[in-house]
Amino acid sequence: MVETLIDKCPRIETERLVLRKWEERDLDGLVEMNSDPRVMEFFPDVMSRDESAHMLERLMAKQDELGFACPVVEDRASGRFLGFCGLNIPTYPKPLPFDPCVEIGWRLIPDAWGKGVAQEAAKIWLGFGFETLEADEIVAFTTETNWRSQKLMQRLGMERNPADDFDHPMLEEGHPLLRHVLYRLNKDRFESVSKSWSDGKA
Ligand SMILES: CC(C)(COP(=O)(O)OP(=O)(O)OC[C@H]1O[C@@H](n2cnc3c(N)ncnc32)[C@H](O)[C@@H]1OP(=O)(O)O)[C@@H](O)C(=O)NCCC(=O)NCCS
Repeated sequence: MVETLIDKCPRIETERLVLRKWEERDLDGLVEMNSDPRVMEFFPDVMSRDESAHMLERLMAKQDELGFACPVVEDRASGRFLGFCGLNIPTYPKPLPFDPCVEIGWRLIPDAWGKGVAQEAAKIWLGFGFETLEADEIVAFTTETNWRSQKLMQRLGMERNPADDFDHPMLEEGHPLLRHVLYRLNKDRFESVSKSWSDGKA
């Protein structure tokens, strides 16, 4: 993968996926994904076209600055937008209790669930984060009720300590999605769990 490094966020092709930077042409796919109640079940609400357009602007500005911002996942054969999965540096207006951090995040269209797509992309970006960016730790977080996302974190070898559970700073007191769980993966553990990925055991 390092050989394919062009800048901080390379374009990567696997047998079935293209992992790449955001482009203006992703707007329609992003709008469709963000307006789907199944996808947004664990977010405060579905998003309007305008809200998704602002999100795309923010992601593109961040990727210009950092080189990466939750990169796009595309179906290689059809070119269809499947969503995003990858590294990000959270920049909410209010700090997270574990800032500063490198996060791995994901959001895919339902047609891409249950096929190991998120897992495949996440493994590549975790490798990029630890080996190329030389991160010491990568975290992931979600609501305590989002078991699909937590299962993915566990499959990737990430670990939760309940003492790290937190209230999301952007949600108001009493919001049903307020309570979040934090999963962490450090470099040593990555080196050990990722051995089984290349053996095809996970
Ligand atoms: C969270 C999310 C990315 C998880 O997607 P996912 O497809 O369940 O995750 P994975 O890529 O790990 O796929 C694993 C599933 O694919 C199956 N699978 C099929 N082929 C596979 C393959 N080749 N390799 C691995 N798994 C495969 C697994 O058996 C597993 O199925 P199961 O969950 O029924 O046991 C997805 O549900 C999503 O986008 N949700 C909405 C947005 C969201 O909540 N984002 C998180 C906010 S923090």
